[in-house]
Amino acid sequence: NDLERLATAVRDADTAVAFTGAGISAPSGVPTFRGDDGVWEQFDQGQFAYGRFQRDPEGFWADRVDLQRAMFDGDFEPNAAHEALAAMGRDGHLEAVLTQNTDGLHGDAAAAVGDGDAGDADGDPAATAADEPTVLELHGNSQRVRCTDCGKRKDGDPIFERAADGELPPTCECGGVFKPDVVLFGEQLPGAVLQRSRSLARESDAFLAIGSSLVVEPAASLPRLAASTGGTVGIVNLESTPCDDVADAVVREDVTEALPRLRELIVE
Ligand code: OAD
Repeated sequence: NDLERLATAVRDADTAVAFTGAGISAPSGVPTFRGDDGVWEQFDQGQFAYGRFQRDPEGFWADRVDLQRAMFDGDFEPNAAHEALAAMGRDGHLEAVLTQNTDGLHGDAAAAVGDGDAGDADGDPAATAADEPTVLELHGNSQRVRCTDCGKRKDGDPIFERAADGELPPTCECGGVFKPDVVLFGEQLPGAVLQRSRSLARESDAFLAIGSSLVVEPAASLPRLAASTGGTVGIVNLESTPCDDVADAVVREDVTEALPRLRELIVE
């Protein structure tokens, strides 16, 4: 079946790459963007554009506090799908995780695998971060803010709290305005990260697009790029996507079921 085909492709690949979207974090309680329960049903995307931030930082931050609450309320933790990818990386089966998500959960899962006392796949307890896959955050990280003047990055929670308490917009010691450390609409993706993602897609012998609607760039073109250089492309999604036609395998399942099984098939 398709999952077995993917497992074989990943096991045989010199370079296997995972590309993830909001669907991988949905089972952790982080809402997706599109679909009936998506945040873009509840909020107007246009209010979170870079132009608005520049024009009206006060209004932008007031709305962003609400968006942040809607997306990241309470505790949220990596789920079995994040953990399976981290473990695949740890086992040496995954070169990189490229993500559009800004929740930081891939990093958390990788750190948890690194801290675990189980050791690596060969039972080597000394295996460390060196074995972990690279996590490339294409859209930045919502758990941080960055000063638009001095460039300093800070943990986002206390800054979002200050904004919620009425400091609009919140500012840095240097007097500069903080911006969530994410790529806003109308803003360029970080060039180096984008370039690296494109080369990884091109290089990959196995490319897995997981839990993304694959409608915005560069998500929409990376699977095609991987396919164009002969890589095996797999898609894991509850729904169909506009890239299903280039996929060698389409797994229409919940990520928390598909990915742990994929990992088991790979190590079998
Ligand atoms: P979307 O919300 O567009 O798509 C989420 C996808 O995940 C959908 O195709 C769902 O079918 C799928 N899905 C949801 N739950 C799933 C589950 N449990 N198992 C498997 N699949 C599941 O999210 P993205 O594709 O990540 O950009 O959106 C891309 C970008 O658009 C985001 O990064 C954001 C947004 O506007 C910025 O904020 C710059």
